[in-house]
Amino acid sequence: MAEKIGFGIIGSGMIADVHAAAFQHTESAELIAVYGRNQEKTAALAAKYNCRACTSLEELLAIPEIQAVTVATPSGAHLETVCAAARAGKHVLCEKPLEISLERVDAMIKCCQENAVVLSSIFQTRFYRAVELVKKAFDAGRFGKMVLSSMQMRWFRNEDYFAKSSWHGTWQMDGGGVLMNQAVHSLDMMLYINGAPSEVFAFSGTLTHNIEVEDNLCAAVRYKNGSLGTIEVSTSCEPGFPRRAEFSGTGGSVTIEEDTITRWEFVDALPEDADIRREFGGVADAKGGSSPANVAVDGHALQIEMLAKNIRTGGSLLMDGSEGRKAVELVCGIYESARSGKPFRF
Ligand SMILES: NC(=O)c1ccc[n+]([C@@H]2O[C@H](COP(=O)([O-])OP(=O)(O)OC[C@H]3O[C@@H](n4cnc5c(N)ncnc54)[C@H](O)[C@@H]3O)[C@@H](O)[C@H]2O)c1
Repeated sequence: MAEKIGFGIIGSGMIADVHAAAFQHTESAELIAVYGRNQEKTAALAAKYNCRACTSLEELLAIPEIQAVTVATPSGAHLETVCAAARAGKHVLCEKPLEISLERVDAMIKCCQENAVVLSSIFQTRFYRAVELVKKAFDAGRFGKMVLSSMQMRWFRNEDYFAKSSWHGTWQMDGGGVLMNQAVHSLDMMLYINGAPSEVFAFSGTLTHNIEVEDNLCAAVRYKNGSLGTIEVSTSCEPGFPRRAEFSGTGGSVTIEEDTITRWEFVDALPEDADIRREFGGVADAKGGSSPANVAVDGHALQIEMLAKNIRTGGSLLMDGSEGRKAVELVCGIYESARSGKPFRF
């Protein structure tokens, strides 16, 4: 078997643990070392996953067996971390959102291009089988003329989630509230299936938490393909429901809750439709709806594996820097509309 691609993890908080666990499910990648600002957490993570703990970023980036890094620092600290890795010649798999503004995302993409390293953005929701099936039906034209594409995320985060973090709920490091942090996965999924937006209008509010950013937001969207849609997101809703998306056209309608298809109806039915309904029948799990740490490792493992194969043989990545940029662009447009009280055109 070909040699595995060596990886380091930068950041040693909540999601870094998911990254480290994901390497136990990859064939082409192995974890070599971890570095985070918090040395205690870094040492604990390294001990748990049997890898080297580094005491500085420079130490990790100087390890020759490390060809790529995953970036798990706070969102507003991604740019500097990614650029340091790129300058050291390491390929990068960076957590969502790539950064907290388009200027910073673009600087990151440019830096990776200049240093000839691959940049990939983590958006594991896009790789759910349910999403892939909807995307396939969409690309095959089964929805007919697209009419409505909407998403709802009624999640819950308690006050401690913000109070115990130095960066969650801040403009400077989180880049926004529920839309930029939690809902950005669903935005990526909507854009992946239905394509780019042309215009948005939004209202936002901080209704239940003691934070400077929004914890509730509603937006109306017009997409470039002419369809309309809504976005409703919250971290104030007990007990936290599964994320939900609905796609409707003249040819059919589908509802997804998390990684489950709950409605799958097309005017021109295919034999496989009954199998799909059977496969997914049931109630969706709320996943991260009420618990931030409830993140499955399989999506991260898949994206790490894809990057490792891409580094080795140039295999398809499906999620490069420009793909990761799209959801941040939509978030920033929605924030601009909420701030100005006017529609924002892309
Ligand atoms: N894909 C997902 O499902 C998912 C889920 C949660 C978080 N995230 C993303 O992962 C990132 C981290 O989130 P988290 O929940 O793990 O946060 P966290 O606060 O638990 O961990 C962040 C860690 O980074 C360390 N750190 C801060 N600045 C650093 C720097 N410059 N260099 C090295 N280490 C530094 C901190 O000490 C902390 O341990 C964010 O971008 C977040 O949006 C993604």
